[in-house]
Amino acid sequence: MGVVASAPAKIILFGEHFVVYGEPAIVLAIDRRAYATVDFNDDKSLHVKSSNLKLEGCFKDGMFKVEQGDAREARSRFEPVRLAVEKVLAKYGANVGLNVEINSTVPVAAGLGSSAAVVAAVTAGVGALLKVKMSKEDVFAIALEAEKTVHGTPSGVDPAIATYGGSILFQTDTGFKPLEVKAQIPLVIGDTGVERFTRIQVEKVRKIADNYPQVMEPLRKAAREIVLRGIDALKENDLDTLGELMNINQALLYGIGVSDESLEWLINAARKAGALGAKLTGAGGGGCMIALANDEKLGTVQDAIMRAGGRPFMARKTDEGVKIERT
Ligand code: PMV
Repeated sequence: MGVVASAPAKIILFGEHFVVYGEPAIVLAIDRRAYATVDFNDDKSLHVKSSNLKLEGCFKDGMFKVEQGDAREARSRFEPVRLAVEKVLAKYGANVGLNVEINSTVPVAAGLGSSAAVVAAVTAGVGALLKVKMSKEDVFAIALEAEKTVHGTPSGVDPAIATYGGSILFQTDTGFKPLEVKAQIPLVIGDTGVERFTRIQVEKVRKIADNYPQVMEPLRKAAREIVLRGIDALKENDLDTLGELMNINQALLYGIGVSDESLEWLINAARKAGALGAKLTGAGGGGCMIALANDEKLGTVQDAIMRAGGRPFMARKTDEGVKIERT
């Protein structure tokens, strides 16, 4: 039977890229989750299976053996899982073999933090299976370490939101601060299906910042102001203002070169269909966009994104971070 644990995906509502330059960003956990089923096995190996990715393989005595799918892909996708499991076992002095099965409703490699959600769920799941008490801080520390080793994540936003859920204000020099958000934030997320690479997008912005520092400076300031106004709008459940701020934020992201045709297409379709606001989320250059809409317009916005060639799904903010679903 085993233990089942889950953790949420995320979106960046405001502030991506400018956060790299010290500005604040707002990140929300969404009600799309990754699930990990964890159980003991008898052969002292770590067996990992991802039903969505159709990948399966086994780590034993420092070797990896693929059982389904491409060996390289399986190894690299499962590496953070291996690291997280090893860290939990080491922390609690356990020497056991484990089967880990991952089921995720989060699109992979689309900027929604699917990897961190998987790692947080696996970490908490292994802890529960071992019957040790793991605080959220323990889960976060291990998920962050595992993610850092593999992705070199500079900010740690993904593991933080996967662990704690809710809404987070993040700034490099001050770290994470939970935000109180009463608003429901009804969103449609549109996956362009275009593969994106965070590092390439960050480098693109770096060039602009280096070549045009006087242009970048006011854009940064504007991004900061959007976040500050966004905090108030979230507190007051002011969806109209949030939508407007999303549109302005998108204009800034377009300006620094991280939007692309696939994103613009879906963003325009969403706005035309009555969204209060729409923008890319995360690194851009493909990946996902988000649209905010009143409840009665959500269906129309979703249809419009689909007709424009995107893969849309509805999402809401969730306060539920990592949790044990079944022991
Ligand atoms: O798309 P993601 O989840 O990799 O988000 C990247 C966010 C950036 O601000 C572009 C980079 C960063 O490290 O904060």
